[in-house]
Amino acid sequence: MRQSNPTPATMLVVDDQPNIRRMLEALFTREGFTVLTAENGKRALELAATHPIDVLISDLIMPDFTGVEVLQKVKQLHPDCCAIIVTAYGTIKSAVEATHCGAYDYLQKPFDMDEIKRVVKKGLEQRQAAQATPKPALASTRHATPRPCMVGSSPKMQEVYQLIERAARSRATVLIRGESGTGKELVARELHNRSPRSDKAFIAVSCAALPETLLESELFGHEKNAFTGAVSARQGRFELANQGTLFLDEIGDIPPPVQIKLLRVLQEWEFERVGGTKPIKVDVRLIAATNKDLEKAVADEKFRQDLYYRLNIIAITLPPLRERIEDIPLLVEHFLQKYNAQNARHIATVHEETLRLLQAYPWPGNVRELENAIERGVVLSDPGTTVLTPDLLPDPVRNAS
Ligand SMILES: Nc1ncnc2c1ncn2[C@@H]1O[C@H](COP(=O)(O)OP(=O)(O)OP(=O)(O)O)[C@@H](O)[C@H]1O
Ligand SMILES: [Mg+2]
Repeated sequence: MRQSNPTPATMLVVDDQPNIRRMLEALFTREGFTVLTAENGKRALELAATHPIDVLISDLIMPDFTGVEVLQKVKQLHPDCCAIIVTAYGTIKSAVEATHCGAYDYLQKPFDMDEIKRVVKKGLEQRQAAQATPKPALASTRHATPRPCMVGSSPKMQEVYQLIERAARSRATVLIRGESGTGKELVARELHNRSPRSDKAFIAVSCAALPETLLESELFGHEKNAFTGAVSARQGRFELANQGTLFLDEIGDIPPPVQIKLLRVLQEWEFERVGGTKPIKVDVRLIAATNKDLEKAVADEKFRQDLYYRLNIIAITLPPLRERIEDIPLLVEHFLQKYNAQNARHIATVHEETLRLLQAYPWPGNVRELENAIERGVVLSDPGTTVLTPDLLPDPVRNAS
């Protein structure tokens, strides 16, 4: 392993079981690593703050932090670190979730030595390959947008993760469906981040926000003098997304003339700018999203059937939050962490009655509405508050029962 990685790599092993720590320390010290060990999350973060970390091997469940929290914090300090989660029998779903938060891989306990050696070796090789690939000029690694992290381990979300995993590698067009606020844009970003195009552009366009003529020039660009005000030629979003991913949000709202042009792009990957005659070829992965009933729009002849088929090659449908209330505790914890950090608050637990109310409310605005409710609660809480009590919830949620 050393030959392919001549600079000594530092590994951090986090596990509350001393025998696992000792075993991994002995194994990887023999392989030439500098191995640091921590018995809990707190110690792990102290070590991560003072050492370079190339590889993290963390247990999933520990007394203070979860493995996913350790992973996220270590990744903030060392974005290129190759993180591997190990997990006891029965927690494999959360381990799958960990891979959606940036873990390279996960292993189920008991694992054998060769298996973990193989996973670490592959992870480091992949990291080296990624470091060798030049980054796009605008995206400085330090300030690059963090990978979106999808929270939730309900069976319905597991299905979504599996579809993302399978679809990400291909160029096939994906149509993301789901009510408002269910996470459609997050899925689109996740598809891009997990695809071979992840180091190229991800361009999002909201098709509902723009009138017809503007939408057309926004998507396909225009030549100089194509219309009044077109003082110079301009690239459209398709050109800007070349080699990357174009996310067309609210696709159900695009007017018929733009539908025709879009259909042609999806058939030939070629178009002309508005006012132009020169065909422009692009290599774009298209992801579309809608919360509209597209089948009804097709039946009502408002949406072209041929375009519908072209878009709907892989469909990912996000479940409404009320159909996966088992995810609410995890989501609440996630948003508490986010808004505690932004508002210098320390709410660490959720009152039993608060949780009951949160799980009884139907959440018409789905995860976005839940996120807003938690942000509101955190902002309105007294600085010393440690428990999310029912009085911190918005009225409609408090009155749900
Ligand atoms: N599974 C999830 N885990 C964490 N955050 C989530 C999840 N799903 C949604 N969110 C958060 O909820 C908010 C809404 O998500 P997003 O914008 O992706 O929804 P959407 O389906 O595109 O909504 P709309 O139809 O209104 O455009 C975002 O802040 C997003 O980060
Ligand atoms: Mg959206």
